[in-house]
Amino acid sequence: MMSSAKETVRVGFIGGGAVNFGGAEGPWDHASRLENIPGLRVVAIADKLPGRAQFVLDIRKSGENASVYRECTAYEDYKLMLKQEKLDAVFIGVPPFAHGHFDSPIELDCVRAGVHCFVEKPLSVKPVAEVDAYMQAVLEEQKRQNLVVSVGYMFRYHPAIRRMKQLLADHESSTSARLTYLQLTYNCAYSQLDHPFWWRKELSGGPIVEQATHFCDIARYIGGDVLESSIEALCTGDTHPSGAGKLSAVPDAVREGDIASENRIPRLTVAHWRHSNGAIGQLSHGVALHHKRYEARIEVWADGLRVTVEDCYTPNCRLSFRQGDTDVETVETYPSADPYQEEDDVFIDAIRTGSSKSVQSPYEDALRTYALSWAVRQASESSANQA
Ligand SMILES: NC(=O)c1ccc[n+]([C@@H]2O[C@H](COP(=O)([O-])OP(=O)(O)OC[C@H]3O[C@@H](n4cnc5c(N)ncnc54)[C@H](O)[C@@H]3O)[C@@H](O)[C@H]2O)c1
Repeated sequence: MMSSAKETVRVGFIGGGAVNFGGAEGPWDHASRLENIPGLRVVAIADKLPGRAQFVLDIRKSGENASVYRECTAYEDYKLMLKQEKLDAVFIGVPPFAHGHFDSPIELDCVRAGVHCFVEKPLSVKPVAEVDAYMQAVLEEQKRQNLVVSVGYMFRYHPAIRRMKQLLADHESSTSARLTYLQLTYNCAYSQLDHPFWWRKELSGGPIVEQATHFCDIARYIGGDVLESSIEALCTGDTHPSGAGKLSAVPDAVREGDIASENRIPRLTVAHWRHSNGAIGQLSHGVALHHKRYEARIEVWADGLRVTVEDCYTPNCRLSFRQGDTDVETVETYPSADPYQEEDDVFIDAIRTGSSKSVQSPYEDALRTYALSWAVRQASESSANQA
């Protein structure tokens, strides 16, 4: 535990890519959020791609928050970074195949070095039992050294998603009406999504494990745990006989023709399940839109209540609800919501105070979301290219 809220926190990055330093798509970029936290210094960046860590460091050193990187060193080997630097915390933002298992034990190496970890989702790419065994080893060390391990399911920090949860809880306590239905729709814009790993199931886990996992997590955050045996799902693969899986704008860099057919990703996945509290959940994920903006929508129902959150990735995020004996809809907007800033603030604060109680996505809970994502993938997989 650090002794004072003002004490300097020395941070390292593992992965110098989009989630940590920004890129063509999306609002994510942990470095820019960390630059807003007083007393924080980025002292090391490790990326195994030669030159990548130095490249992102040079950009940040010429930016308006250059002083945050004054003592920063670029590494290719994160193990060398852990050995040479006295780090308080690391942000692990590497592709799913590159962490979360005994063959690539980044988290385990970090906690063994006594470093607090912020881990990007998904936890891994391996089957759940294997990741569970690995997680137990991480947790043992985490507990022994009282470390914080927080996972990047940032919608748990989004004020619109929190408000949805609160509206349901307040409605239930005043009327006894319980959540009956959750509908989660996530349609990603793929034509500029040019990370080659993303398009290969063996490297990313596929779009449910890699991406819709955020909405599997919202389902669990709002609706509680899911009865795995109830999950049913269908998906449409790239060579579905109907032709419905054909995409016209896959980026050239992906070279999808070179990917073995069993490793190509589905274009559409639809799943439903029952939560252990009785509510029914339904998830649709599409790889269908062109250009940049993702379209995302979550709707929940209870007797006398409907709440909808739309566009939660953008400043146009909107929550609407109808409650009680009225046809009138109430609308709320969240133009300045930044769940990435919130999750980073909470993580750093947990390190400074020695208390993880504000961390919304601890490692062991994130494994349950990983398991739900995998179960949806598995339930859908055999239908991919069947008429
Ligand atoms: N929470 C979110 O909203 C969000 C957004 C984007 C990405 N992500 C997640 O972040 C992770 C990374 O995605 P990205 O878009 O940054 O990918 P990316 O390809 O842009 O960057 C990943 C970087 O990790 C490096 N890397 C790979 N193995 C490494 C290792 N062993 N040591 C050091 N560096 C290594 C690569 O060279 C690459 O530069 C993915 O799991 C993705 O799902 C989360």
